Amino acid sequence: MDARKFLRFPVISITVALILFITWVHFPLLPNKESLLDSNIFSRWCTSKNRFHSSTKHNLIKKSSSSTLHSNPKHEYDVPHHPLDPLTIQEFNKVRTILSTHPLFKSSSTYTINSIVLEEPNKKLVLKWKKGDPLLPRKASVIARVKGVSHTLTLDLTTNKVISHETGSISGYPVMAIEEMVGVVEAPLKSIEFNKTIIQRGIDMADIACLPISSGWYGTKVEDNTRKEVLAISDNGQNIPLAKGIDTDYRYSIQKLNGELRLFNPISLEQSEGPSFTVDGNLVKWANWEFHLKPDPRAGIIISQAKVRDSDTSELRNVIYKGFTSELFVPYMDPTDGWYFKTYMDAGEYGFGLQAMPLDPLNDCPRNAYYMDGIFTSADGTPYVQSNIICVFESYAGDIAWRHAECPITGLNVNEVRPKVTLVARMAAAVANYDYIMDWEFQTDGLIRAKVNLKKQETSPGESPRKSYLKAIRNVAKTEKDAQIKLSLYDPSEFHVINPSKKTRVGNPVGYKLVPGATAASLLDHEDPPQKRAAFTNNQIWVTPYNKSEQWAGGLFAYQSKGDDTLQVWSNRDRPIENKDIVLWYTIGFHHIPCQEDYPIMPTVSSSFDLKPVNFFERNPILRVPPNFEDDLPVCKAHDSS
Ligand SMILES: *[C@@H]1O[C@H](CO)[C@@H](O)[C@H](O)[C@H]1NC(C)=O
Ligand SMILES: *[C@@H]1O[C@H](CO)[C@@H](O)[C@H](O)[C@H]1NC(C)=O
Repeated sequence: MDARKFLRFPVISITVALILFITWVHFPLLPNKESLLDSNIFSRWCTSKNRFHSSTKHNLIKKSSSSTLHSNPKHEYDVPHHPLDPLTIQEFNKVRTILSTHPLFKSSSTYTINSIVLEEPNKKLVLKWKKGDPLLPRKASVIARVKGVSHTLTLDLTTNKVISHETGSISGYPVMAIEEMVGVVEAPLKSIEFNKTIIQRGIDMADIACLPISSGWYGTKVEDNTRKEVLAISDNGQNIPLAKGIDTDYRYSIQKLNGELRLFNPISLEQSEGPSFTVDGNLVKWANWEFHLKPDPRAGIIISQAKVRDSDTSELRNVIYKGFTSELFVPYMDPTDGWYFKTYMDAGEYGFGLQAMPLDPLNDCPRNAYYMDGIFTSADGTPYVQSNIICVFESYAGDIAWRHAECPITGLNVNEVRPKVTLVARMAAAVANYDYIMDWEFQTDGLIRAKVNLKKQETSPGESPRKSYLKAIRNVAKTEKDAQIKLSLYDPSEFHVINPSKKTRVGNPVGYKLVPGATAASLLDHEDPPQKRAAFTNNQIWVTPYNKSEQWAGGLFAYQSKGDDTLQVWSNRDRPIENKDIVLWYTIGFHHIPCQEDYPIMPTVSSSFDLKPVNFFERNPILRVPPNFEDDLPVCKAHDSS
């Protein structure tokens, strides 16, 4: 073992980009015509004997096939309905056909398709588009490696032509294709030299599993995944004691043998009249909210055109144009040979969506959840379906939305309370030893919460030493540099995004404020190569003018990048942001200092931030919501129903 001991803890930073509306656009009232789910599907829940198994998600989708909640598990016949809908299987196949006749691919037998996604139409066009209008021209954006060069192509799926083709000058590689990851993990197992080092340690090769650990970038050394062979072996740390692995198998089937630990009776949320949300393709409608939701191979989940209905005017008002996880940075704090390079950028290197796992229908999400599949590309351009990677559900955790009682000495007998029910869109990605659970939570009072839960195998969490409120004061950030904000406990401030040209009746500019939760600052030196690449963690808040090509805070090509295409670089241009269409970037962070309770699997840690309306509505927007009454609630008699 090394004489020096370092705490091997990573700092995990996740940057979420939010494209906001500085000019609130107003939409005419759209009556909510879609009927809710067929309530028959759910009415048997409370009386069926074997409730737990008879109403799994699979049945739910099947039974509701005539309703708007239907999703075809094979997706062969899916057609896009909305300009932001992800590419369909048929569109993926069209992309392949167009590429197969393109000289770049025709002349090369070896290429890797790293990404095929919808090239979203321009924001102005999307905002103008209404249901019933012809769909905007469908385009695809393709990233491919051909003969050691990264190519970005845009394809027009109406004319079947490649309309732009760039080889770009920025450093780095695209998100690894799954096949590239698989290819490199097989390489060491075939290496005689590697085999020797394993035998020397008295370990059986059959017990070895390899991971495609990204190498970061430190000066000149650049690795080539395409050769799929071992280039060098760093063989240090000979006598590291290995845990015996006794009682570390965390599978329920194994744990059960040692006796279960039942701490509470089975629990679930019942909705006897069915859920209150509808999903029409990718459009989700719930309570006073409406938004477009889709899986993305890199970002995981993309929320678009989130609008809230104003209870006073019945208008649907825009809040977010696009919200997504832009990048994750996970630098481990150990400068020794086998560890120093571990400075992952999980979205840009591995693809947050590509690593998303099918959600467990009773445990990842509650039983009342609706599931969405992702369609991603293989390295040869063939589409594949990753099932159930997003779930949407209503959540009621016994919390209160608002309450007030008049003091009895006033002689008034008033006690008013409303329960808090929220809508959650969730995804869970397992990137090697960490599982990330990403939630977008919508509240009826107009609040949106983005949460990142984290679970890790082997090691543990420690919450950030930083917990504070945002900067804002009454300063107006006029340029990008004004809006590079570091949170500070001793400088509590609020950060508001307002539209000065639209005021409430009492004269306040309408807006939203960003309310940060616990976060962590990166501890690395700004000149450290990993920190340069992940310079988006230099500040917790950034604001940039909207630019369609500036989406990925660690750069378009994050893998082994040199930090020449980051949020820091863009923001240093110091462009004006006042009265502009803006993007708000917020970084959630954790310091994860392992402790024994994290072994072998750590409990979930979470952090979140809120987007809260401030003078956006004339008054409390959920005043007229009725309370719960005993007669409205389902009566469940699980014990005696037979
Ligand atoms: C590793 O080396 C041993 C001893 O030379 C050999 O028997 C074994 O087949 C090798 N295993 C692999 C996977 O190459
Ligand atoms: C938009 O972003 C790209 C990439 O950073 C940059 O080259 C271009 O200059 C930007 N455009 C504007 C108007 O800032």
